[in-house]
Amino acid sequence: MSEQATQEYDDNLMALLETIWGEGFMSPGGVDEVDRYLDGISLDDRSVLDIGCGLGGIDVHLVRQHGAAQVTGIDIDPALIDRCNLFAQKHQVEAQTRFVCVEPGPLPFDDASFDIVTSKDSIIHIDDKQRLAADVYRVLKVGGWFVASDWLAGYDEQASPEMQEYLVAEGLDFGLASAKTYTDALQRAGFCDIDIVDRNEWYRQQARIEREQLGGILYDGLASRVGNEFLEHEIEVWDKMIVAIDQGQLRPSHLRGRKPGPNH
Ligand SMILES: C[S@@+](CC[C@H](N)C(=O)[O-])C[C@H]1O[C@@H](n2cnc3c(N)ncnc32)[C@H](O)[C@@H]1O
Repeated sequence: MSEQATQEYDDNLMALLETIWGEGFMSPGGVDEVDRYLDGISLDDRSVLDIGCGLGGIDVHLVRQHGAAQVTGIDIDPALIDRCNLFAQKHQVEAQTRFVCVEPGPLPFDDASFDIVTSKDSIIHIDDKQRLAADVYRVLKVGGWFVASDWLAGYDEQASPEMQEYLVAEGLDFGLASAKTYTDALQRAGFCDIDIVDRNEWYRQQARIEREQLGGILYDGLASRVGNEFLEHEIEVWDKMIVAIDQGQLRPSHLRGRKPGPNH
């Protein structure tokens, strides 16, 4: 399991991700993608846990646009927690947000603490999906939803050589799982209304736009911030990722499941 607290996302990588994906975001699709995976689930007046809050863009959005009463963002990187606090201040949602630096491992919250548990492209860093699902189930109130987005594997056994090449180039501590593994983990934890929506086709198009921007309109500005060598490496990562996405090996997906009981 990716269970050491590391600073995998260094300043250069964060600058690059924010430039491509928008202020406060370390994953693709911006607020539209968040709204899409939350479709039909009301956060109004609810307490929300966000696993892997990153730069805090999603947490601010959940308060401002979805009416969440209280959002608790957790991350393993203390520098990111500082950035989240600043971002929340900037958007005047300090009263409705709290950001907590955690150790990888069990969620440090009491049973039945949250109405909703969410996560955007962060649980890829947690290998043991069964333990994660059981822990999310534990901290949810009866009737509460787990609703998330993650990078899923399009394979159960062996990644293709091209996918392996992409993972090596990316260099992040990933623990990818397939839709089947996630479904099994959620079922075994006790969730009902489990649904997984594949976003591979959308991201096939989107990744190409991002690649074009990295090599074009964003290149000079980014190179002056992160250096040519780093930027060229990231462009190579995008090229390899596009092959993995085209092969269906890498599948961004939306996941949800409900803890049985009166619907929240
Ligand atoms: C790709 S970023 C996504 C951040 C944010 N959700 C977004 O979409 O902008 C993944 C985040 O997960 C965090 N992370 C990694 N392992 C974690 C763990 N075990 N618990 C909580 N956060 C973790 C990383 O530090 C990073 O901020």
